[in-house]
Amino acid sequence: MGATGDLATRRLIPALYEIIIHKKLSSCLIIGAALEDISSREILAQCKEHIKEFDERAWKVLEERFFYKQLDFKRPDDFNTFAQYVEELEKKYACTPNRLAYMSIAPQFFCPVTEELCRVGLIKRTDVDPSYWYRVAFEKPFGEDRASAEALNACLAKLLDESQIFRIDHYLAKDVIGSIALLRFTNRVLEPLWSHEHIDWGEISLSETSTIRGRGYYYDKFGQLKDVVQNHMLQIAALIAMEAPTYLSGEFIRDEKARVLKRMKPIDALVGQYEGYQQEAGVKADTKTETFAAVKMEIDNKRWKGVPFYFKTGKALEKRETLIHIQFKPVKCLLNTSCPSEPNYLLIRVNPNAGFSLHLNVKNPGLILQATPVAMDFSYEQTFGQVPENSYELLLQELLRGEPSISVRFDEIEYAWDVVDRINHASLPLYSYKPGSNGPEELREFEQKHTMKFRG
Ligand code: BG6
Repeated sequence: MGATGDLATRRLIPALYEIIIHKKLSSCLIIGAALEDISSREILAQCKEHIKEFDERAWKVLEERFFYKQLDFKRPDDFNTFAQYVEELEKKYACTPNRLAYMSIAPQFFCPVTEELCRVGLIKRTDVDPSYWYRVAFEKPFGEDRASAEALNACLAKLLDESQIFRIDHYLAKDVIGSIALLRFTNRVLEPLWSHEHIDWGEISLSETSTIRGRGYYYDKFGQLKDVVQNHMLQIAALIAMEAPTYLSGEFIRDEKARVLKRMKPIDALVGQYEGYQQEAGVKADTKTETFAAVKMEIDNKRWKGVPFYFKTGKALEKRETLIHIQFKPVKCLLNTSCPSEPNYLLIRVNPNAGFSLHLNVKNPGLILQATPVAMDFSYEQTFGQVPENSYELLLQELLRGEPSISVRFDEIEYAWDVVDRINHASLPLYSYKPGSNGPEELREFEQKHTMKFRG
């Protein structure tokens, strides 16, 4: 659903193509639907520019398996015709009716479209009819605040079993994000240090060079806090800060993430907007929507007492990178010459160069006892070879397998909305910044006020 949208043409369909190239998709049909009167070939032509290595044979497979049907979400009749279309194709290609519906559409359509898909029988409750599997994936944003997310959850609960609902956060399908819990809980060396006793502060920065790329109609209603902080950044923070789950698997991890999200509180925030944003297509002329946000958070529990977590994110910035810094407390200086110049820190790189590095002090070569910080580095690419760049490739495969850990549970979503709802953003001044810069200049004052300096 939403097959002609930005996400489908830029990420989803190219990801399906990558899956075909890597031979990880056995026989299946891909059926797109949206309001536009367009052909399947025309949609695929739009996707071509987002494909890195072109392979004639894989492209042909995609062309043979990709179909498109015009569908107006507001017309029940269209859903009847759509169901007939899908069932005929399934018969022609001898496919089982195991179905995944992917909602890449505005959240106000999530519930009515799911209702229609259930009404026409394309999606069925698996606890009522377990003969095949039926899953529905919802792209973010899941609602626009706590109240709307709750209403959405209540509506879906009437139609589907929770195990069929996949609230997608594509960051959870990135290898580095998936490995945070593994890094923390399968190694002995980190966990004993992972608390207010040894950690000074945490930082998550998600910087983008791109602007809103013609997505003004959507983005202007949301802004960076709802578009990126509410989901990707809070999910990262939850994985960094959660308590050890009973087992490192779906439901146990979600229990712990929900617990820590419930305790997360925004303390201070700064918001900005890049110069030229108001001239973007689909954006209100006098819009106050933020394209940049820096937030100080605290977690109200024993482990994180007094430890701030800083978030920083924005569009049209100088660099494209997503980094997590864990800053350890300084040690007492026992050297009688110069002391370590900086405390240790762990840097987790989501992109670029996915991996992490632990920054420790070593002795300088030579006679004088002097410490220099060095990085012990791990890079996914260097160790494991090429890793997929488009996280949707992995995400779609996990969806087809029905892996629950890439889905965010209803309570996590509601707590995450609580955090963002509490940032009283109407009362904050909106600072402007130059595209290609590091954000508003006022960020320096924010740093001084909190006696910190963003590393990312
Ligand atoms: C999406 C947001 O969820 O994440 C976009 O809607 C943002 O605005 C994107 O650009 C960032 O994802 P990635 O994988 O490119 O870092």
